[in-house]
Formats: sequence, C-alpha cells, structure tokens
Amino acid sequence: MTQLPTARFTLDPAFGIGTVNPRLYGSFVEHLGRCVYDGLYEPGHPEADEAGLRRDVLALIRELGVTTVRYPGGNFVSGHRWEDGVGPAEQRPARLELAWHSLETNRFGLGEFIDFCRKTDIEPMLAVNLGTRGVEDAVRLLEYANHPGGTELSDLRIAHGAEQPYGIRMWCLGNEMDGPWQIGHKKPGEYARLARETASAMKMADPDLELVACGSSGFGMPTLGTWEATVLGECYELVDHVSLHSYYGLADGDTDLDSFLASGEDMERYIAAVTATCDHVGATLKSRKTIMLSYDEWNVWHTDRSPMAPAPEDGFPYAPRLLENSYTLADAVLTGSLLIAMLRHADRVTAASLAQLVNVIAPIMTEPGGPAWRQTSFYPFAQASAYGRGRVLRVAADSPRHSTGRFGEVDLLHATAVTDDDTGSVTVFAVNRSRTAGLPLDVELRGFEALTVVEHLVLDGDDPDARNTLRDPERVTPRTVTGTAVTGGALRADLTPLSWNVIRLRRAGSR
Ligand code: AHR
Repeated sequence: MTQLPTARFTLDPAFGIGTVNPRLYGSFVEHLGRCVYDGLYEPGHPEADEAGLRRDVLALIRELGVTTVRYPGGNFVSGHRWEDGVGPAEQRPARLELAWHSLETNRFGLGEFIDFCRKTDIEPMLAVNLGTRGVEDAVRLLEYANHPGGTELSDLRIAHGAEQPYGIRMWCLGNEMDGPWQIGHKKPGEYARLARETASAMKMADPDLELVACGSSGFGMPTLGTWEATVLGECYELVDHVSLHSYYGLADGDTDLDSFLASGEDMERYIAAVTATCDHVGATLKSRKTIMLSYDEWNVWHTDRSPMAPAPEDGFPYAPRLLENSYTLADAVLTGSLLIAMLRHADRVTAASLAQLVNVIAPIMTEPGGPAWRQTSFYPFAQASAYGRGRVLRVAADSPRHSTGRFGEVDLLHATAVTDDDTGSVTVFAVNRSRTAGLPLDVELRGFEALTVVEHLVLDGDDPDARNTLRDPERVTPRTVTGTAVTGGALRADLTPLSWNVIRLRRAGSR
C-alpha cells in the first residue's frame, strides 16, 4: 500500500475549544416516507410494543446514542395541524400530506412521539408550523404540551391520558422558510417578523424555552447571510439558536469522490459564515448575548438514488419508500468527517440533528414485518456519541494535501480530539480522505499525564461502495487495529485509506 508523508498535530489540554453539548448527537424524525410509519412505528410487527413502537428499532436507537430528536418535520411541519395527531387514535383524521405527497393517518402524533422519547431517554425538540399557521397555533401547542393543567388545552392533554406535561424545552420556529419548496415559503423580512411575533408570544408563556430561528436551508441558498442577518435583526434577544442544514451527495454521473469526501470543508466554512453573521448582528445591537448554531439537519443524501415523491400513478400512498439511501463505506467515512467538522466548532454548534433516524436517509433501516439493521453510517455516529464527550481540543494539523475539484487543496487528514478533564482520557477522531494511500499519524501529547492506548477502532475496507443490506447486514462493521501506541509522549497510528478512526487513550495505570 502506498504511504503518504506523516500527518502531525499537537494536543494540549490548555488549548480547548469548548465543551461538547450532548445535543450535538441529536437526530430527526419526520412524517416522511417510512421514517415513522413502517419504520419506528409498526403495530402488528412481531417486535411492536403496546404502543406500536418496534422494540428492535428502539434498541438500535439506544445503541446509536441519540440524545435529542427533532419532530415532526421538516417540510411536513409547514402544512401540519398538530391537533390532528392527538386524542383517541381511531378518531383522528386522515389527510393528504402535501410536502411528500402521502397519506397521513395521524395514528402517530405528539403523544406517541413523547412516549417514544421517554422510552429511549431522548430529549424532544419540537417544530411549530410557520408555513400555513402562525402565532396562535404555536402558543396553543405550547399550552397543550407544557402547561401543567387547569386550562382548556392542558386539560385536554390530561384527558388524552398525559397527566404530566411534556416539558419540551427546545422549539424550532418553522422549517426552511427561505426555501421556495416550503409550504408558506417566506421572504426574509416576512419570516423575521413572524418569527419575532411567535417567539415573543411563546416566551410570554415560558421565558425559559430555547428557540431556534430558521437560518438558511443550505450554504448555497441565494439569500444566505442576508436571511440570517434580517431574521436575527428582528429576533436576536428572543431566540437562542439559528439553524443550519446541509446534505452532501453525489448526483447521478458525478464521480468526483474526492470532493465528496472533502465536504467537511464546506460544512466548516458554512459554520464560520453563519457564526460571523450572528456575531455581526450581535455587535450592531451591542448585545451581550451569543447566538448558538443548531445544525438541525445534516447528512449524506444522494438525491438521485431514491425517489423524493411517490410515482404519479400511486396518488397519495401510505408510507411510500422515499429518500431511502443505502449508505456505502465512503458515505460512512464522510459521516464521520461531518461529525468531526461540527466537533471542531463545539463552542458554537451546540445542537445538531442527523437527518433522519429510520429508513429516510437514516442510519437504521427496517423491513415491514422483517428485521432492522445498521447502515454503514450508524457506526461513526454511535462511536462519536459514545466517546466524543467532554472538552474539544484544538487540532491544527500539518497534513499532506491533495487537490479537489470543488474545494481546491484540502488536507488528507481531518481530525479532532476530546478530553475528559475528570479522568484525563483523550479520544482522537480521524479520517483519512485518501482513497488509495495509508496515512501515518503522529500526535504529540503535550501537558497530559502519561497516556496509553485503550483501543483503535477503524471503519475501512477494500470497496468504497460496500454497504449493509437486508441480505448482508454486517458487511461493513468496525474492526480493532493493533500496533497503535504511545511512545515518547507521542501517539503513533497508521490510518488506512478511506477510513474513519477512533483512537481512545487513558491515563497510564487507570482503568
Ligand atoms: O430531511 C428531508 C428534508 O430535507 C426535510 O423535510 C427538509 O427540511 C429538508 O429540505
């Protein structure tokens, strides 16, 4: 195997970036395709519990280490009536769902979602409809969900069997309202005003809510920057986060895998641009507040590889197979790299949602009446959530580079590291973006007590296109690397081509 020159960086506990907010390991459940219906929720499946939730899927979600889930959309939320999804299930209306051209039975709604969150120890994050609805419905939903009792809507929740309020802290003020595809799409000034009015009313009900204003729905949007500045100009003191959304994929016929694998560069530039815009608005307002970033939709999404809408002859079907990407090894390596990109900005990216959780561009796949399995991308997320906690340390790497069509010269190493100040442990996350050459890594460990390697886990393989499928669900799984060691105060490792690596270190002599 060809070997690249050694990539190097220094880790020092004195040079921290920020503490990882557990909300960075959030995900997203939308009423879209088979994410909810015939995914998470399938009454009649042998694994279904009394509420119709698949126990096998819940077990995989726990293993994935998801901390929050954003719900119920997505584009779906912009036409959604929350009242349709509460109360006795058999009395709920079926409706035409316009965003994804599907039949919405409303058999799964807010109460079922909260039940799911409680069973998986996940924090709910709720989006309100600012497409077809507005201030009044947002505050009514808030009253239904969070008020203890003694009002019409809180008593209605109690009558629906939920004595305890849901206590939802994080609320999204609509979804992708800058996108022309969005039901109720708005111009920057229109959304800014609606977001301010909604935020203001919601905070009158509960000043402790954390509100997320819609940022741009992608780095490439024509109103990027202007949108955020206009929205925050109106809402700065009322909201806590602004959202970012990114999907990276290869269009049909695009074979530029090197650019695809370097998409973390795009993500980091996007984070820097939105951070600068937030801080510019804060400066003009002479505010002492810092707006945080909620990367509440991110993932690999090859839009040409699965339908985005049902076939016209199918009309409005129930649970159609939409956005079902089968992820490859290369996709998983990029997933790891995107996690690295967000961790490198943990001081500002304090919430994120892998979009989505089940079947729809998801780490978990299911077959109706059949098994559930882990996609390749399951592993980097699960490992980052398990080990990427604590304080992120600055990584300024000296790495061999290569040229990409979309991002110019980029480092072949993409890395970050976290430390747990209580135990002194350190975890390095590293991606080798080279598809052909091994990358030796040398990390100087400065200012730490003596460290030793616990394990080096890698996701790699000969075939960048390898995937986990119904028939072959464990083709791509992490393996342990031997030979990685700390010698003379430096960590030395070999990163195989196209690989995602987790290197865990602990204080020598500790357990
Ligand atoms: O996650 C799929 C869709 O992508 C969401 O509904 C929307 O917000 C985004 O455009």
